[in-house]
Amino acid sequence: MASSNALLPPVEHRRAGSVDIVLGIQWGDEGKGRVIDLLAGDYAIVARFGGGDNAGHSIQVGDQKLALRIVPSGALVPSTKLHIGAGTVVSLNGLITELDALAAIGVDISRITISDRAQIVFPFHAALDQAAERARGGAAIGTTGRGIGPAYVDRVGRAGVTFGDLRTPAILAERIRLSLLAKAPLFAAAGEVPGEDDVVAQTRAAAERLLPHVVDGVAYINEALERGDDVLAEGAQGTLLDVTYGSYPYVTSSSTIAGGACTGLGIGPGAVRSVTGVVKAYCTRVGGGPFPSELPDDEAARLREAGREFGVVTGRPRRCGWFDAVAARYANRVNGLDRLIVTKLDVLSGFERVGIVTGYRRADGSPAGVEAMGEPGLKPEIEYHPGWSESLREVRHVKNLPRDARAYLDRLANVTGVPVALVSVGPERTAFAA
Ligand code: GDP
Ligand code: IMO
Ligand code: MG
Repeated sequence: MASSNALLPPVEHRRAGSVDIVLGIQWGDEGKGRVIDLLAGDYAIVARFGGGDNAGHSIQVGDQKLALRIVPSGALVPSTKLHIGAGTVVSLNGLITELDALAAIGVDISRITISDRAQIVFPFHAALDQAAERARGGAAIGTTGRGIGPAYVDRVGRAGVTFGDLRTPAILAERIRLSLLAKAPLFAAAGEVPGEDDVVAQTRAAAERLLPHVVDGVAYINEALERGDDVLAEGAQGTLLDVTYGSYPYVTSSSTIAGGACTGLGIGPGAVRSVTGVVKAYCTRVGGGPFPSELPDDEAARLREAGREFGVVTGRPRRCGWFDAVAARYANRVNGLDRLIVTKLDVLSGFERVGIVTGYRRADGSPAGVEAMGEPGLKPEIEYHPGWSESLREVRHVKNLPRDARAYLDRLANVTGVPVALVSVGPERTAFAA
């Protein structure tokens, strides 16, 4: 119960529907897409609260793989509505391409809505993103090059264009003019100045196609909650990529943590019922930046092959390492996790031993936490556990997992302080052990 005093009666929660948040707690690609596909049927709405098409959320059905970039991962569950929230940044042509691809496989795209407060990513944002990366040289972040950073810069710089602006041609043209004006020196430096009339014409063409999907996002989500509908809030990227709490500056430009679901959907924190962290049984990272549990090339290659660790969006090989419990404990703190869903446990079959990073040591030998990530000479403290040789792909009950796999899971729960609620043992839609 909330605190009260003689003047102020205790708060009573007036909840009808609830929001459950599912997000990644490492550096992205934890398998959020599959988990959300599994859970979506229990919710009236699945809503993406941040990021853009830097995300790639894959769902495998038979030998077909669907990779969703911006449309929520409930797409294959017909009963669920899909909402792209205000916290996102969305490429018009990217969204149209994705809608067409979904329609072509028989998905009813009329149930997809986008908040009028979501921000538009223009092709010039992608050009600025790529130019900034080139300028950073050896210190490049390794972005996806999709314009995500520059689009969020425009939002906070008050020079962005929203989906709501698409409704009124005169407002749209003026917003585009101001947006281009704000970046004139950057375009001049890059030697490429986008033509204002062309941008307006292209945006208006896309608007005709997309406007039927644009809604008042605040009303859409909150009216659903008031009716008693439950909402699954879908995270993108991962906690260590959060713009404030991640391994800054090697991060994305959005709020990827649980708090981001409130700002990204326009809901109060009281609506949130639970926070589930999706976590790989080991770690991966795409792009630059610190990665304390990263394995040397030959060992990383073994994990990469076994886990098919190549980026959905860029095809880049993912860097691979052992499970990092320091990072996971930190992620628990900043997200307030209720439970973990551990994915890709099957990938560890056949390893003689599996490691868990339980601490970091500075170059001088002193113990350190997440704050030291990126310091030169930082070394992981690794605890090794016996591996197992059996394939886990067909296992559907945790009690039937090999003893050493169960012991490893118990240790993950213990060392992170969060219970493991479900385990994923293969890329197939149904490959979960409860
Ligand atoms: P997301 O961005 O968090 O949705 O994750 P991605 O889709 O980018 O990356 C996860 C990859 O791992 C995809 O290729 C999935 O098909 C695959 N995957 C997810 N869960 C499992 C699992 O339990 N076992 C195996 N072997 N692959 C999985
Ligand atoms: P999902 O949702 C993994 C990484 C990029 C880069 C950094 C900044 O599929 O888990 P950006 O283009 O966002 O400015 O790049 O963030 N990154 C991801 N890595 N999974 C993702 O999404 C990512 N989205 C961004 O590789 O290091
Ligand atoms: Mg991904």
